Amino acid sequence: MLANKHILLVIGGGIAAYKSLDLIRRFRERGAKVTAVMTKAAAEFVTPLSVSALTGEKVFEDLFNLTDEAEMGHIELSRAADLIVVAPATADLMAKMAQGHANDLASNVLLATNKRVLIAPSMNVHMWTHPATQRNLATLEDDGVLMAGPNDGDMACGEYGPGRMAEPLEIVAAVEAGLGAGPLSGKHVLVTSGPTHEPIDPVRYIANRSSGAQGTAIARALAMLGADVTFVTGPADHPAPHGVKVVLVQTAQEMLEAVESALPADVAIFAAAVADWRAANAGDRKIKKDGSGPPRLEFAENPDILATVSKRKKGRPGLIVGFAAETDDVVAHATSKLETKGCDWIVANDVSPETGIMGGSENAITLIRQSGTDVWPRMTKDQVAARLAQMIAETLEGKK
Ligand code: CTP
Repeated sequence: MLANKHILLVIGGGIAAYKSLDLIRRFRERGAKVTAVMTKAAAEFVTPLSVSALTGEKVFEDLFNLTDEAEMGHIELSRAADLIVVAPATADLMAKMAQGHANDLASNVLLATNKRVLIAPSMNVHMWTHPATQRNLATLEDDGVLMAGPNDGDMACGEYGPGRMAEPLEIVAAVEAGLGAGPLSGKHVLVTSGPTHEPIDPVRYIANRSSGAQGTAIARALAMLGADVTFVTGPADHPAPHGVKVVLVQTAQEMLEAVESALPADVAIFAAAVADWRAANAGDRKIKKDGSGPPRLEFAENPDILATVSKRKKGRPGLIVGFAAETDDVVAHATSKLETKGCDWIVANDVSPETGIMGGSENAITLIRQSGTDVWPRMTKDQVAARLAQMIAETLEGKK
């Protein structure tokens, strides 16, 4: 997997730096050689001695260290590795990278390298969503920097939201994918996500409460395993993940067209909460109150995208995963969807308001396959996504 790969790990100064110790172990148990560069702030959180004990190598800290320069100059250090990983990538390190600063060893190495760089951002949710960080992120993405995370979650500072560093195994998966060694490398996976909006007139629409959180997490988890992901999304609350091809749609009909033009795919996952009906008589002008009472809406049925793709004779993806959003008799309804829609797996969930699942950060799913039914414990949507992506990778591996 990572045998004979050399990773240069730049450890930034954030509370998540403690996770970099576990990250080093994970890299090494996969056969990678790890050399670490620590910023001055990083050394406030973890000691260079711990880092060196785990890498089994000298740790580089200072740009103006004559002994280091004599042993291995910073230019050579930046180029000897196969990939540079920055974890945690603090807001400050991201800003330096985006601006091309080179005022310490870490930023020097990142500017001088001719190798790919992968960052695992870690910061407070407001620092992450600040326009300055988002500008820097866009610059880094344009520069071809790879990303792992950040995840949504509880923060050391007591707040909740995006900005939590990806877990070590997620970073390892992203590194494997970046080096073309991920289990889904070379596989095209299509994911639908979010709600659809069906217009009534130019200013009003029919929608549902889907936030797009689960579909977004699934697309991210698949990309982290190296898949080439096409992400077809309705208007969702969550930003699309990094490193996937995003196709934005509004309506069910647009979603079907986008899905069909994205085929062929090895795997297709239909996580979108597609509106079953659209207004048949949608107006092209705003409907006015004209004193004759409320307007009558006529409905037309939308195409069933999952069923349409599942029943294709030619070019059907090898593995098709549908979702079932239910409020009662969850397993019975979901099992009958598996049959009627013709997909291979169904991820069933109870979206009754009291579960807090629709629009929330957790999910409790039952996975229904021809071979049986598995009830998963309640977990975060990121965890559901990681587990599902792993199962998909193992299934494709088994089919080889
Ligand atoms: N789906 C789809 N196109 C539609 C409706 C649903 O692709 N027009 C997909 C969803 O993305 C999901 C699965 O079908 O993977 C089941 O969706 P769900 O909303 O649970 O069920 P429906 O098919 O809409 O049936 P019902 O509303 O009767 O529960």
